[in-house]
Amino acid sequence: MSDVADRTFEETIARHDRIEPRDAMPDDYRHTLIRQIAQHAHSEIIGMQPEGNWITRAPSLRRKAILLAKVQDEAGHGLYLYSAAETLGVSREELTRNLLTGAQKYSSIFNYPTLSYADVGTIGWLVDGAAICNQVPLCRTSYGPYGRAMIRICKEESFHQRQGYELLATMMRGTDEQRAMVQESVDRFWWPSLMMFGPPDGDSPHTAQSMAWGIKRHTNDELRRWFVDMTVPQAEALGVTLPDPALAWNAERASYDFGEPDWDEFWAVVKGDGPCNAQRLAHRQQAYDDGAWVREAALAFAEKAGDEG
Ligand code: 3HC
Repeated sequence: MSDVADRTFEETIARHDRIEPRDAMPDDYRHTLIRQIAQHAHSEIIGMQPEGNWITRAPSLRRKAILLAKVQDEAGHGLYLYSAAETLGVSREELTRNLLTGAQKYSSIFNYPTLSYADVGTIGWLVDGAAICNQVPLCRTSYGPYGRAMIRICKEESFHQRQGYELLATMMRGTDEQRAMVQESVDRFWWPSLMMFGPPDGDSPHTAQSMAWGIKRHTNDELRRWFVDMTVPQAEALGVTLPDPALAWNAERASYDFGEPDWDEFWAVVKGDGPCNAQRLAHRQQAYDDGAWVREAALAFAEKAGDEG
């Protein structure tokens, strides 16, 4: 970049203004955005699988309709985010290939199985709740298309989180078996939900630079703490126990103290050794293969229309 372009970029970031696709930007800024937006998009698409697993087994038409709407929303979130990534000069084909080959990641949380119907509620309450904490600040991220995609995504995440909480609250008013099912689900998903925010700040190679560029507005640990502070009162209202004996109100800090996630487990899952990593990618690969005829037909139609046009 020229000195003028460099200065313009730095001044735009310093003013908390937006960098737009046609603006000059450092290669490393572009690559960091492609990495993060691609991971975010991949997470939305892979995230359809855990809950999609329960669509045919939802206990009522109402619950099935809600779950269908949520899973469909996640597909839309993935498409908004892939579109935002494409403004940085990377193709949809390349992004899909990077996901399927493991060259790019998706959120660790989606490598855990959904073993009971209560998981549908827990994912809405905890996973989408964590996503809200992580995504609301991204509405103010320095890259225009990414921040604008977040506006609608965050509005839909609120519905996702509320429907999950309402599902669990209904089960907690049910039988002992239903209450036990909710507690067992929360026990399985609590720590992986805290891991969604990434490694501790001291072990995060990207946070400092992403904060300097205004891509991230808060650190991993700040957002994790915000999520715990938001969620503990909700757990009390639900009547569930969060599986962390270190959880305690710290009056001095006006925030909760809480235990450390198992970072060895986190890195193992990130590196591909989680309970469902292979299954999730195999399912995505199968969906891609099954859709080949649609892509070929659409291209043939576009070429024919172009010839006749
Ligand atoms: N899962 C998988 N990989 C993770 C991870 C996680 N939970 N947290 C961190 N990592 C990876 C990073 O990608 C990075 O690896 P890389 O260099 O190979 O890309 C490495 O661990 C170091 O982590 P950093 O904290 O330094 O990396 P980042 O600065 O990128 O921060 C992040 C990680 C907080 C997840 C950030 O990328 C982010 O905010 N991403 C966008 C939001 C997002 O992806 N949210 C979660 C999924 S979306 C969702 O939940 C959908 C909802 O509808 C349910």
